[in-house]
Amino acid sequence: MTLGLTTAGESHGPALVAIVTGLPAGLRLNRDAIDADLRRRQQGYGRSPRQQLETDHVEVLAGLRHGRTLGTPLALVVRNRDHENWAWGMSPWEPDGAPSGKGTKPVTLPRPGHADLAGVLKYGHEDVRNALERASARHTAVHVAAGAVAKALLRAVGIVVEGRAVEVGGERDEDGMRAATDAARKERDTLGGVVEVVATGCPPGLGSYATKDERLDGRLAAALMGIQAVKGVEIGEGFELAGMRGSEAHDEIDPGLKRRTNRAGGIEAGVSNGEPIVARAAMKPLPTLMRPLDSVDLETGEPAQALVERSDVQAVEALAVVAEAAIAFELARTARDKFGGDAMGDFVAAHRAYLDRIGWQ
Ligand SMILES: Cc1cc2nc3c(=O)[nH]c(=O)nc-3n(C[C@H](O)[C@H](O)[C@H](O)COP(=O)(O)O)c2cc1C
Repeated sequence: MTLGLTTAGESHGPALVAIVTGLPAGLRLNRDAIDADLRRRQQGYGRSPRQQLETDHVEVLAGLRHGRTLGTPLALVVRNRDHENWAWGMSPWEPDGAPSGKGTKPVTLPRPGHADLAGVLKYGHEDVRNALERASARHTAVHVAAGAVAKALLRAVGIVVEGRAVEVGGERDEDGMRAATDAARKERDTLGGVVEVVATGCPPGLGSYATKDERLDGRLAAALMGIQAVKGVEIGEGFELAGMRGSEAHDEIDPGLKRRTNRAGGIEAGVSNGEPIVARAAMKPLPTLMRPLDSVDLETGEPAQALVERSDVQAVEALAVVAEAAIAFELARTARDKFGGDAMGDFVAAHRAYLDRIGWQ
């Protein structure tokens, strides 16, 4: 049994939805822990006022009873509190009455770097909003909720996943990151950065070299690349390895089967090797600029400035939380593939039996 995740939801629609399948029965979930991750996603220097406007909370519609999973699909919902201002503009049904609130006029000014132009061409939309509402990173909220569930599952077998921002606008220390953000805000510009996710407690043997789809590095890279604005991924020393000699690149093995270094980032041949798993993702500067770039008005065909909509200066700390959730979900999926079980007790016992077989402390 593997873990599955399906999500739905537009940025200013009524709600975001996730359905997680393949969880064992008896996993205890804590609402406050899920909400704490949702809050972390909304915080961070450089975020837009929307994050202060709405405090996200998780609701569970199915798959949970008295705080424990039932082994059935888990349905998670995060409501868009801002939807009340978009009730007409983002009404799922033909709206009643005269247009009111936000989103009533079609958007025709595509932003370079966003889904806007490709989205309207691909789907035949006349209103760019029909593309940007889903392409927006708003729905990462529900991915973070699913990631929090995955983290609870992983914790039961001693695996802890943590993400953090390590670079913003080319700056690597806290003060530099803040100064770069302030400068970009003043100049009505945006920034990108780099996040790092570390997973500790993974035994050797998660993932496989047997087929391309089972490679853990491939799965983690796809999970990170699947997040909006991520344009580069590396595992361990990644791109640095390309310039090293073999003698300095690889992690020598001690008699106790531990490594002296961890340049591989905890994965060799698509399989975890027992060292901490380290993955980094590079985020491009956000495409919505308060000083818009050149574009075209799709209605008139004339040159125009791109859409200006309330937006973040940078969202690197938020990405760290989203990336943490993505890695946690993928590791949980790999752990479910390996240890199986319908009930939590089966899952934990299979993990224990495996550690005993390989003699891993
Ligand atoms: C957590 C997070 C927050 C984001 N916030 C914004 C934002 O406020 N404004 C914006 O233009 N893009 C934002 N983005 C990036 C866009 O969603 C993304 O660039 C766009 O969907 C195009 O996709 P691509 O960058 O993967 O090509 C954010 C991305 C993430 C992961």
